[in-house]
Amino acid sequence: MFEIVEKERIAPGVNRAVINAPAIARAHKPGQFIILRTHENGERIPLTVADKDAEKGTITLIWQEVGVTTYYMSTMNVGERLQDLCGPLGTPTHIEKFGTVVGVGGGIGVAPLYPITKGMREAGNHVISIVGARTEGLLILTEEMRKVSDEILISTDDGSFGIHGFVTQVLQGLIDKGTKIDLCVAIGPVPMMRAVVNVTRAANIPTVVSLNPIMVDGTGMCGACRVEVGGKTKFGCVDGPEFDGLQVDFDLLTKRLAMYKGPELIALNKFRESERGCQCKFPGGAA
Ligand code: FES
Repeated sequence: MFEIVEKERIAPGVNRAVINAPAIARAHKPGQFIILRTHENGERIPLTVADKDAEKGTITLIWQEVGVTTYYMSTMNVGERLQDLCGPLGTPTHIEKFGTVVGVGGGIGVAPLYPITKGMREAGNHVISIVGARTEGLLILTEEMRKVSDEILISTDDGSFGIHGFVTQVLQGLIDKGTKIDLCVAIGPVPMMRAVVNVTRAANIPTVVSLNPIMVDGTGMCGACRVEVGGKTKFGCVDGPEFDGLQVDFDLLTKRLAMYKGPELIALNKFRESERGCQCKFPGGAA
């Protein structure tokens, strides 16, 4: 159980692994996530399931190296096992035939957007995907997204590939040329989702965002994942991770996400000196 059966680096600092987890693969629905520990003393981190194969009993995880656990995972090889995987957790994406659905994915956010896009298309929607990254090398899953979209627009902030500009500018372009959008689903860094919501709010387009609050238990018991939506406190793990983007308090989310930055940095520096840490390539060179 939880054996890594495939693993590859798909962009600088971004990895993809296929994990043997039959029960989760059978039960998982788009939008749901898992919580994992790499080893007995490891922390628990949530990751969205990017894909699954119920017949083979596998799930696909895609992660960006940002903290101890994601760096640790990058050092794990095919044949190694994760200590535990809990899931699927969270409320699945509400999928039905809305009409035209625009999915906006920024950076690593394209990974959770992929199964949602697939589900929306299978439900009969006309799906337009906007996939963006800072630069060409950081674009992920563009071919996979192309296969599950009716139209795809790719942009990079620096113009190294596709449309030169932010995903929000591409979205604004669609609105300006009169595309009737019935639903927008935006997943990516918090500033990106906030910027998308500013665009869709002005055009009166219902918008779903997938939030990434700090989580501990993932089952609604600890309260670590509190977010404010429409003036009410919600738990990201059980009420979400998807919420009405027009109602989310992004200021509060940003503040809560920054709460553990100091301790996280101390832990990461300690990890750099460990046996596993020495196998990692950290931005800016070795520790
Ligand atoms: S992670 Fe503990 S309540 Fe959501």
